[in-house]
Amino acid sequence: MNEKLILAGGGGHCKAVIDVVEKEGTYTIAGILDRPEMVGETVLGYEIVGTDSDIPKLAAEGYHFLVTVGQIASPKIRIEIFERIERHTDNIATVVSPLAYVSPHAEIGRGSVVMHHALINAGAMIGENCIVNSKALVEHDATVEAHCHISTGAILNGGTLVRIGTFIGSNAVSKEYVETKPFDFIKAGTLFKGHDNG
Ligand SMILES: CC(C)(COP(=O)(O)OP(=O)(O)OC[C@H]1O[C@@H](n2cnc3c(N)ncnc32)[C@H](O)[C@@H]1OP(=O)(O)O)[C@@H](O)C(=O)NCCC(=O)NCCS
Repeated sequence: MNEKLILAGGGGHCKAVIDVVEKEGTYTIAGILDRPEMVGETVLGYEIVGTDSDIPKLAAEGYHFLVTVGQIASPKIRIEIFERIERHTDNIATVVSPLAYVSPHAEIGRGSVVMHHALINAGAMIGENCIVNSKALVEHDATVEAHCHISTGAILNGGTLVRIGTFIGSNAVSKEYVETKPFDFIKAGTLFKGHDNG
């Protein structure tokens, strides 16, 4: 299988995703979507072929899609693009780096990307449109709801519940079985013990 993939968002996170997509090999990158003034530019040799308004046309032509906008201050743009894609096609890619380990007893939602050297353990669940970034560890029975970014090197210990739209910063560590708020922002390097536990 070699499906043609459109990446929505041409910034820094897109570069990291390109590396994963190339290594994984299921998809051929057919182009990138970005702002109108970026059309015709390239990212790691792949052309910016259009903008988000081309999603309906490209969907009708059978392309697959992955949101490659990054997510730090807010998940809003990633959610908007994901929902736009979802309205036009079911061809939403899920990409797992061959250098990552995902337990066969874990689940990864569509539109999510698992980057190099991430580790997702048994019983973990990752929702739709998430980023599990390089070297992140999602321990047993942790749940990450839709539209979350688990940043580089973050550790979600067993049973952690990361609610929708949440950002977990680099090297943040969660205590086991704690819960974030929806659309939460956990700073890089934090020891997160839950909101009721300091
Ligand atoms: C690096 C960091 C810890 C600095 O924190 P700090 O020195 O305490 O600084 P502040 O709390 O003033 O926040 C600085 C920035 O963090 C982000 N931030 C902090 N709290 C936030 C919140 N509740 N919601 C959204 N963004 C927030 C904003 O981008 C803010 O930028 P601004 O100054 O334009 O508002 C924090 O910015 C952070 O965790 N950033 C993400 C780094 C990271 O993990 N990147 C992932 C790469 S994969």
